[in-house]
Amino acid sequence: MSKNWTPDSWRSKPIRQVPVYADQAELEKVEAELGRCPPLVFAGEARRLTAQLGDVAEGKAFLLQGGDCAESFGEFHADNIRDTFRVLLQMSVALTYAAACPVVKVGRIAGQFAKPRSSDFETIDGVKLPSYRGDIINDIDFTPESRIPDPKRMLRAYSQSASTLNLLRAFAQGGYANLHKVHQWNLDFVKNNPASEQYTGLADRIDEALGFMRACGVDADTRELSGTDFYTSHEALLLWYEEALTRVDSITGRWYDTSGHMLWVGDRTRLLDEAHIEFLSGIGNPLGLKVGPTTDMDDLIRIIDKVNPQNESGRVTLICRMGADLLEDKLPPIIRRIEEEGCQVVWSSDPMHGNTITSSSGFKTRPFEQVLAEIRRFFRVHRAEGTYAGGVHFEMTGQNVTECTGGAEDITDETLGDRYRTFCDPRLNAGQSLELAFLIAESLKEERQALAKLREPEQL
Ligand code: PEP
Ligand code: CO
Repeated sequence: MSKNWTPDSWRSKPIRQVPVYADQAELEKVEAELGRCPPLVFAGEARRLTAQLGDVAEGKAFLLQGGDCAESFGEFHADNIRDTFRVLLQMSVALTYAAACPVVKVGRIAGQFAKPRSSDFETIDGVKLPSYRGDIINDIDFTPESRIPDPKRMLRAYSQSASTLNLLRAFAQGGYANLHKVHQWNLDFVKNNPASEQYTGLADRIDEALGFMRACGVDADTRELSGTDFYTSHEALLLWYEEALTRVDSITGRWYDTSGHMLWVGDRTRLLDEAHIEFLSGIGNPLGLKVGPTTDMDDLIRIIDKVNPQNESGRVTLICRMGADLLEDKLPPIIRRIEEEGCQVVWSSDPMHGNTITSSSGFKTRPFEQVLAEIRRFFRVHRAEGTYAGGVHFEMTGQNVTECTGGAEDITDETLGDRYRTFCDPRLNAGQSLELAFLIAESLKEERQALAKLREPEQL
């Protein structure tokens, strides 16, 4: 951290993708109130996640990060939280089992409310209004009043994040995530999906293995099997909110942003001398940097140096979102340069944001095949470069939505409208997410076998 960093030093830098609040006094009142609110996460938890991401950087674990593109006030419901959580659990079991590899689980949840937009305005039938920027900023309704940024929304987002996190903590440690319940995580509406059948087969094998352990006298009721670690993350976009929740950790004396365990910066606000990188450089949480096809390598290296001057393993995750068609051109030079500079990073693939198209029926969508193609290429390129493809980053939901085309249920341009519910970008539904997890598990298994071969001579 630079000597001059303070939680508000971002305010003297250029900033983009944030609203202009008309009522400054109201904004300050909200900031003061948020400043008195208890932290949502603890510094020790963020450090634990950094350590686990350090294992990912070293090829000893895999990162699974996923959740809504944008959480919303309207869709806030315990069932939605539970369904996203359980699909992430299912995906994680599929990956752990196939690749014999621990999976670090991080939700895009309990704080993922603010959205960068490609255009400041939206025009419908000749009417032009400011764009929707996420429920923490303004309202999605297409009326002039709804689109006015309202600072009070930050308090509602905080409160929703607190209850979401409370439920997630209960699910993760209170019995729901117990591996003995592996069968119960299957969702009814994906039962006809081939991925669901594959999952049932896997759950049977896990049950057998647990039964076998017990028969051998091994304790199958340990803490490791009865609960799981589950972390939260979101894009650190709305810096007034992030600053208000940034606190000094009493153990280390270091600043942490207590709004979530991991914070990432988007491709559109990842600029060296601007506000978002300034803010992230001073907090102790593990960070994600989105890396798109237009990334300037010299800038990226300088940004990494700024946010991770000690080159700490697990501190930086590069979330690559190239687009399936560009990845094989764009990613290898980035990997080579990072390797040359000796930067410690986790390599993760976001196969969503570079593969967004508009369907013939007018919906923003992502073809499942393109999402899968980007991941496969990501693994292939890392294998060729001798580096470790350590994670994936999805926009997904546990709901039975129809937002991305393709997959085993074969959602088409024509059926997108059936249950298109997202507040922003199209998400994989529960069936598509599970299907992807099984397909990734195969690539991960091969990758780990290749890695083990490479490491064999060291172990002799
Ligand atoms: C996102 O993750 O929702 C997002 C906007 O991504 P990006 O910054 O990579 O476009
Ligand atoms: Co998105």
